[in-house]
Amino acid sequence: MTRPQTFYVKSFGCQMNVYDGERMSELLAAEGMASAPVEAADVVVLNTCHIRERAVHRVYSEIGALRRENGSRPIIAVAGCVAQAEGENVAKRAGVDVVVGPQAYHRLPALLDAARGGQAQIDTDMPLVPKFDALPKRGVQRASAFLTVQEGCDKFCTYCVVPYTRGAEVSRPFAKIVDEAKALIDGGAKEITLLGQNVNAWESDGKSLADLIAALDRLPDLARIRYTTSHPNDMRDDLIAAHAHVEKLMPFLHLPVQAGSDRVLRAMNRSHTRDSYVHLIERVRVARPDIAISGDFIVGFPGETDAEFEETLSLVAEVGYAQAFSFSYSPRPGTPAATMDAQVPKAVMDVRLQRLQALLNDQQHAFNRASVGQRTKVLIERAGKLPAQMLGKSPWLQSVHVVDPALAVGDLVTLDLAAAGPNSLTGVLPLQDAA
Ligand code: SAH
Ligand code: SF4
Ligand code: F3S
Repeated sequence: MTRPQTFYVKSFGCQMNVYDGERMSELLAAEGMASAPVEAADVVVLNTCHIRERAVHRVYSEIGALRRENGSRPIIAVAGCVAQAEGENVAKRAGVDVVVGPQAYHRLPALLDAARGGQAQIDTDMPLVPKFDALPKRGVQRASAFLTVQEGCDKFCTYCVVPYTRGAEVSRPFAKIVDEAKALIDGGAKEITLLGQNVNAWESDGKSLADLIAALDRLPDLARIRYTTSHPNDMRDDLIAAHAHVEKLMPFLHLPVQAGSDRVLRAMNRSHTRDSYVHLIERVRVARPDIAISGDFIVGFPGETDAEFEETLSLVAEVGYAQAFSFSYSPRPGTPAATMDAQVPKAVMDVRLQRLQALLNDQQHAFNRASVGQRTKVLIERAGKLPAQMLGKSPWLQSVHVVDPALAVGDLVTLDLAAAGPNSLTGVLPLQDAA
């Protein structure tokens, strides 16, 4: 087998999975390989997600679809959380060349080399030497860039695979993160989103996430800071206070709660209650009254009754979300919930999910309508479909589209929010005051 020249990386999972995909692309580019479309690439990396069953099915159908018209297929590397969870079973079941877990992907070039001998290479180690040190320096960036600061999870919610696929909670060192932030800014990033499975559990040398945010706040060419995903139990006072006084920290908080019933929360091992969550949100809103709250929800956790599901609806009504993600419970192999009694039938989950999503969609639309009339800054992230149309994000993470041929990606432009749909807003340039 000759040495591969071109690559394609496809990411299927969460924002951290997208970040990992970018780092793998940078790694292969640093090896002298060029990116190519999926149909033409010598190497295709499928960067997978294991969080729900459907995400896993997609990977196997994707592998099948990589077969080309002449019967050949590219070199296939399965990376990400399915690789970690299923290891050599992926290679056996799907006939791929490399299987590499989320903590080992800095070794991807070596694994691809070794696979040229014809033997599938599997690396699902969680090495002590951090992968980050082995990755190349960050290059050209989008206007809004991701930066992983914390990985792994020690919370062991009973439904969730992440503690198994990502390992224990580890924080990257402060100085390395600041260095990476500077490289991202040099590469053109105006906004940085700090990523972690429990990002607010980040700590290094006695510093908290709020301290890290304060350090990034001092980088002159950075305009905006975000962080995700937070766990209610790690929401420290200094982080809440940061929302009151750090101007670059955007008024947005993604704080998953999963369910509104204390019995269900206990069975999920969430270690917070409905009330403690509501109280936390109240405190965040005192610090930053206009903050947009986002959440994650699971319907149909084993044993969830109709009445308990109603408690999720009433919690949503009580909190009021600007946006949210909601899912039907998916039993994951090896997690405690998968073998609990009283698994909820799919038809029941479907109805619950529809009702929850109808409420969340209404709230999102209402939040967007309430923004109409505001004059605010929008970070332009990419071109839209229409001529001269650009798409960007408001401070509250709403998508805003605006038509103006003078705007470019990376601009932070002041717009009047003029109209609201369920998923986006229309922005217009403020009329110039008559001189
Ligand atoms: N660390 C974050 C999120 C991790 S996974 C947190 O603690 O909230 C992202 C979301 O996927 C979770 O918040 C949860 O809503 C959902 N999820 C995780 N496991 C799931 C499962 N087995 N079935 C359905 N949804 C799940
Ligand atoms: Fe999964 Fe819970 Fe950890 Fe979030 S906190 S990653 S839901 S185990
Ligand atoms: Fe999926 Fe792994 Fe992220 S399971 S949600 S890609 S941490």
